[in-house]
Amino acid sequence: MIKKVNVECLRVGVYVHDFNCDWNGSNLYIEPSYIKSENTIEILKNWNIEEVFIDTDRGLDAEPSRSVVEDVSFITPFGVKRHRERPAVPLKNELQSSRKITEDAVRIVEQTYRQAMEGSMPEVGPFYELAKQMQVSIQRNRDALSLLSRIRKKDEYTLYHSVSVSSHVLNMCHYYEIPEQQSLDIAVGALFHDIGKALVPQTILNKPGKLTEAEFNEMKRHAELSMDMLSRAKNIPLEGYDIALHHHERYDGKGYPHGLEKDRISFAAQLTSVCDVFDAVTSERCYKAGMESVLGLRIIYEGGGGHFNKELANDFIRCIGMYPVGTCVVLADGRSGVVIGSTEDMTRPIVQILYDEKKQKQLAPFTVDLSQTNDTIASYSDTRRFGLTYNQLLRKFLLS
Ligand SMILES: [Fe+2]
Ligand SMILES: [Fe+2]
Repeated sequence: MIKKVNVECLRVGVYVHDFNCDWNGSNLYIEPSYIKSENTIEILKNWNIEEVFIDTDRGLDAEPSRSVVEDVSFITPFGVKRHRERPAVPLKNELQSSRKITEDAVRIVEQTYRQAMEGSMPEVGPFYELAKQMQVSIQRNRDALSLLSRIRKKDEYTLYHSVSVSSHVLNMCHYYEIPEQQSLDIAVGALFHDIGKALVPQTILNKPGKLTEAEFNEMKRHAELSMDMLSRAKNIPLEGYDIALHHHERYDGKGYPHGLEKDRISFAAQLTSVCDVFDAVTSERCYKAGMESVLGLRIIYEGGGGHFNKELANDFIRCIGMYPVGTCVVLADGRSGVVIGSTEDMTRPIVQILYDEKKQKQLAPFTVDLSQTNDTIASYSDTRRFGLTYNQLLRKFLLS
């Protein structure tokens, strides 16, 4: 909601929709933004600005003075879409470098969560260094980081989830050709989108069954808690607040905490939401098995137009590919195997063939690049068909 408030009522974390300062006819215009420090409030007072318009859907509320409601919409800045390219570096090579990046990322996120629980937040410098390394890895090979961040123990969900969501976000930013700095800002925001969960009881976070209404309400608080915690850190990008607060909004307005609709949800929050749901449904948890990636992509596809912007949902599938690395597939000729690399064609990845379904017998493993042959994928399968869990399969064919 847009409100007009007295400058005296402002505080750090409030989103100013309009600085209300074209009073001197000099066409002075300041971009809408969050109040990042007390300094900004002092500057406004020095300019003799008495009242500004704030947006309580995008930031913290202030003590309202006279309130005015305006209808505003935020434009979703879909960028130019990149043609799908064959990765510049083969997956196996990139996995070597990205292993260290993943370890560093998990360590930094873990440290930050711990500090946040103790009531402090570190400087953001290391977050940007990390996001930059992740970005470079994705430019070399889009699959390595997201694959590595999927390999986790059941109880490491929150840490790896943060890294995985941030990797998917960077992958999509690369696909949309979003400028580097903006991509890094969104990635840093995505790394800490769930930091407020540090304050939600583990019994609720890890509850196997359906949450009661009271528990669900407690869980939902994590969005606002994340925003509050980030507002205590220095130099968090503006996108960080927005992503923390709005990554559970839905395109159809049925999300929380504000029930924002369509493009009133920022592009950064919409993007994080798609990546968040995909990682959540495909992750193994202490109380559930992870869904196959192909089924996770179906959830995203079916969410297009309701949960998500349809174009964004479809672009996510185009970007990640119909058969992501690690998917078990059956070819039209009856051979089956595991996807070990992507190509320029999202329907024709590189497959390690392992089994002949017609003859019901194992084959000596060999690789087929479907983009270079006439072979096609008939269906996806399940890792258990090869007697291996997902993690075992990846370790055996990709990480050995
Ligand atoms: Fe969340
Ligand atoms: Fe999340």
